Amino acid sequence: MLCVEFFAILFLAYVILSLSFERFLVSRVKELYKSLIPTTSYINSINQAEDIDILTSNLQKLNSEKNLEIELLKKEQDYRREFIGNLAHELKTPLFTVQGYVLTLQDGVKDKKVVKKYLKQTSKGVDRLIYIIKDLDLITKFESGIASLDRKSFDIVEVVRNVFELLEMRASKDKIVLKFDKEYSKQLMVFADKDRIQQVLTNLIINSLKYGTERGVTEVSIEILKENKILIRIADNGEGIDEQHLPRLFERFYRVDKTRSRNQGGSGLGLAIVKHIIEAHDEKIFVESKVRIGSEFSFSLTLNQD
Ligand SMILES: Nc1ncnc2c1ncn2[C@@H]1O[C@H](COP(=O)(O)OP(=O)(O)OP(=O)(O)O)[C@@H](O)[C@H]1O
Ligand SMILES: [Mg+2]
Repeated sequence: MLCVEFFAILFLAYVILSLSFERFLVSRVKELYKSLIPTTSYINSINQAEDIDILTSNLQKLNSEKNLEIELLKKEQDYRREFIGNLAHELKTPLFTVQGYVLTLQDGVKDKKVVKKYLKQTSKGVDRLIYIIKDLDLITKFESGIASLDRKSFDIVEVVRNVFELLEMRASKDKIVLKFDKEYSKQLMVFADKDRIQQVLTNLIINSLKYGTERGVTEVSIEILKENKILIRIADNGEGIDEQHLPRLFERFYRVDKTRSRNQGGSGLGLAIVKHIIEAHDEKIFVESKVRIGSEFSFSLTLNQD
């Protein structure tokens, strides 16, 4: 009889202990959960140990979300670090050029011709700095969404002709012919920001000259697509771009051949600007290229219907 009582007490003690342990466990998990997500109200409805499984899976989810957030922050930090490194690198060359000439001039140069030459080089260095800062300023405006577009109706054929005229001297210096694929006798009215589209065409055509071959050809064609869209193609028979570079080509500061592009004075900002302008118009830009055969950049625009 005594034995039965003893076991009954033991069982009761076990039940009481396990219940209080369960309550203790639930309250600790609640505390932990609240410390991790103070704003949650869901935790107040949790009372039983079975719910701990749900809490565990919620915590696991939270953990993987946090890990993802950390990964993103790390990537952003790498991106920022790379950007500052690139910027410092780009500014260093013209700054040192300017500094070098100014110091030499300060020391005193007697020959007037040499003074003039050094001043010209100094001015070139300053121009280069202004050019980089202006490009970066424009990219930053697009990235922060404050660059506005001044859309109106204009003839795209005329704008291409303007750009050809503006770059004629440079093209003949590089011995490259700028031409349309056929005669465009009619106007093609599009609805877009004229100055910005002129900038896109200029950047793409200058690239075709910089990375073109002597006695090469840069050909512009305009294709009318369905749904009021047109596609403007700028094709060259220059050096081309290896496939591995294509996915990163439109990133700021990205250059294929760093050393050679430097001789050409490129910073790798031109295509980043082109992409921003086209995307701000809700249009698309494409690139196709083959090494030693040539490249073709194309972008869409919307025809003006009025
Ligand atoms: N038509 C092309 N043919 C061959 N390579 C090209 C062509 N266009 C661009 N590239 C490659 O893509 C890179 C990025 O072009 P992007 O216009 O952004 O920079 P950049 O010409 O070097 O400098 P920037 O335009 O800022 O003066 C170039 O450095 C070049 O290697
Ligand atoms: Mg360029």
